Amino acid sequence: MARRRLYRGSDFRKALSIAELREIAKRRLPAFSLEFLESGGEDEVTLGWNRDVFKSLRFVPKTLVNTSSCNIDAVHCSTKFASPLIIGPSGHNNIMRSDGDRHLASAAAAAGIPYTLATLSNTRLEDLAEHYPGKLWMQLYVFKDRALTDDIINRADDAGYDALVFTTDANVFGWREWDRRRFRAPGKLSYGNMLDAFMHPRWFWDVMIPNGVPPIPNVTHFFPEDARDTKSAITIIPSLFAPTIDWTTVEDLRARWKRKLIIKGILSVEDACKAADAGCDGIVLSNHGGRHLDTCISPMEILPEVAERVGNRLSIIVDSGFRRGSDVVKAIALGAHAVMIGRAALYGLAAGGQEGVAHALRLLNDEIKRVLGMIGCPSLSQLDKSFIRSSASFEGPASLGDL
Ligand SMILES: Cc1cc2nc3c(=O)[nH]c(=O)nc-3n(C[C@H](O)[C@H](O)[C@H](O)COP(=O)(O)O)c2cc1C
Repeated sequence: MARRRLYRGSDFRKALSIAELREIAKRRLPAFSLEFLESGGEDEVTLGWNRDVFKSLRFVPKTLVNTSSCNIDAVHCSTKFASPLIIGPSGHNNIMRSDGDRHLASAAAAAGIPYTLATLSNTRLEDLAEHYPGKLWMQLYVFKDRALTDDIINRADDAGYDALVFTTDANVFGWREWDRRRFRAPGKLSYGNMLDAFMHPRWFWDVMIPNGVPPIPNVTHFFPEDARDTKSAITIIPSLFAPTIDWTTVEDLRARWKRKLIIKGILSVEDACKAADAGCDGIVLSNHGGRHLDTCISPMEILPEVAERVGNRLSIIVDSGFRRGSDVVKAIALGAHAVMIGRAALYGLAAGGQEGVAHALRLLNDEIKRVLGMIGCPSLSQLDKSFIRSSASFEGPASLGDL
């Protein structure tokens, strides 16, 4: 196979794929920030498998179908969107670009898709909601401190967030060894990494000069006074997540949150059924982009069965590993209503701010349209599993079972 050469410049407009945006991001970010963006838990087996799983799914195209216009509108959570993409929640976006949350939200709004603000964002949830009324989703981590959790829910409600996305897979925080190596003490970068940061002047000028280390304003007012600065806050946050969350937490949320409620972190058919029974509007099948439990399954492996069991009861969103429009088409064909992207948008952010994110979304949407045309399917709504064959010959958790 001929070796592909990826773009080597720094102009994000010239990137032809998410992989090329990633190359630009790699050159622009210092190592500690790049690793935070792209690494995974422990040996990163799941991180790799999240990509490899798509190789085990192959298209079965239909021919002689009029595909002069391919429609990529998507309906999920009772709303019509311009595309099946959703930008997922990610904390600390402003260490990729200053004002990162705002860039992501603006690009999503312009593309007619939701942006999910993370609890651990660098932007106050009210400040963002002011600019994009009714268009934003809010991600929720549940903390041991009930008052802090209540505060976030009430403020998201008052600010008009359209959906609450409850992340359930951080009851125990993922073990990211790479992350620990970069620091000489909690919250303190090693001297080598400080030097590396200085050696990325475009990043340093954009991120550090104007604002210093970005704050985490949605939560820190609840922290002990000596732990409110970002460096201290980052080190204590994992110990503040509630390991006690269970299905009664979902019932409580359902009773008090009147708009869309989405559960993120589902990886079994049984849990998907429980979410439907609890009256949730949607679920995100997710392994957190391979950042938490290593060697766990890819959401794509259970998607067909989940779709069969609950696809008509709630919206199925899937994430983890999506980098190509073809990945998105495969997920929709196997029963997903929408796809949440994490790193694909963040590479765009790091490479080119708001325009970089817009470029990433455009690349993915164009790829989706092109693939629909090539497989002979005029719209996303006409996709079904007859377009996909699962390969049992692929090395790994090979077959996705009977489609
Ligand atoms: C840098 C980074 C930070 C993240 N922070 C959060 C977070 O605060 N809350 C959350 O629910 N998920 C978080 N995630 C997980 C994403 O929402 C999403 O599940 C994951 O990125 C999807 O995989 P992908 O990056 O391969 O697309 C984060 C992911 C990344 C890459």
